Amino acid sequence: MALITIQDFDMTRAASQPDSGLGRWYCQQLERGHILFFPRIPFELSEEDRAFLLTQQQAGAGYHKNIAYRPHQDRITGLVKRSRQEEERLRSLMRAYSRRVIRFMAALLPPYASRWRLDYASFRPQEERGRPLRLRSRNDLLHVDAFPTRPTGGGRILRVFTNIHPTRPRHWVTSETCDVLIERLAGTPGLPLPSPRHHSIWGRLGRALATAGRRVGLPLIHRSPYDAFMLRLHHYLKEHREFQASSPKHVWAFPAHSTWIVFTDMVTHAVLSGQFALEQTFIVPHEALVLPERSPLRVLERLVGAPLTAAE
Ligand code: SIN
Ligand code: FE
Repeated sequence: MALITIQDFDMTRAASQPDSGLGRWYCQQLERGHILFFPRIPFELSEEDRAFLLTQQQAGAGYHKNIAYRPHQDRITGLVKRSRQEEERLRSLMRAYSRRVIRFMAALLPPYASRWRLDYASFRPQEERGRPLRLRSRNDLLHVDAFPTRPTGGGRILRVFTNIHPTRPRHWVTSETCDVLIERLAGTPGLPLPSPRHHSIWGRLGRALATAGRRVGLPLIHRSPYDAFMLRLHHYLKEHREFQASSPKHVWAFPAHSTWIVFTDMVTHAVLSGQFALEQTFIVPHEALVLPERSPLRVLERLVGAPLTAAE
C-alpha cells in the first residue's frame, strides 16, 4: 500500500479534460488500496471558517462519535447546543464544505462523478488518542469500514479526510487490504462465509419486513449477505487481538492542512491520534468501479461461487 502524493492539482484544468485518463488512473490506485495524498488542502477553506471550527465541541462524545452533516436533509447532528446563530453558522459552513469537496472530487475522479451516492460529511473535533468508546466503536483499532445503519448493497465507501488542526498531524496506522484478508480469513471460525441461500429465502423475507417496517415508521434495516459479511468483518477485526498485535503495519502522519482520500472498506485503518478533521463520504456503486474484479464483493463472490447482492 502506498501514498500517492499529488502536489499541484489544477481543478479547473482537470474539470475541462475529464477524459484525459488521469482520473481513471487515480481511481485504479484507490481501488488497489492506495491513498491519494494532498500536502495542501485542494479546495477552498477560509482561515475564518477554520478558526470557527476549532471552537466547536460535540455533544456526549461517547454517544455521538462525530458531528455529522447530512447533505440531503441539510441537517447537523451531535453538536453541543449553543446559540441558534452558532448552529446555523456551522450548518452553512458544513454545507459549503460538502459542496466544495464534491466539486473537487468530481474533477479529480470523473469515472465516479455523478454516479456516486452522497453520504454524510463529518467534523471530528475530539482528540482521538485514548477516546473512551465501546470496542466496536473504537477507531484506534484496525478495521475496514461498514456502516451498521446504512448498508451499501455492494457499493464502496470512499472517504476524503482533511486535517484542520493548526499544527499537529493526524496519525493513522494501515495494514493489509480487504481482498487479501477475505481470502485468508473468510470461512475460518468466527468469520463464516456468507450463505447465498440466505439471500433467496431470508433475503426476501428480510427485505419484505424492512419495507413493511419503514411503512409504519420502524427503521428496520435489510442487509444483503455482502453487507452482513462486511459488518461481521469489521467487528471480527476489532475483536481479534492476534490480528491487532501481529498484522504488518504502516504508520502515517498526515500533517496539519493536508487532505487524503481512501476506500476505507478496502484499506484496514486506525486513527491513533489527532484532533479536528473534516470528512466527506461517498458511496461508489459497483457499476462505476474501474477494477470491479478486485472489489471485496467480487473477491467474496468468487469464494462463495454465487452472487451476494443481486436482486432475486
Ligand atoms: C475511521 O476509522 O474511519 C476514522 C478515521 C479518522 O477519523 O481519522
Ligand atoms: Fe474507519
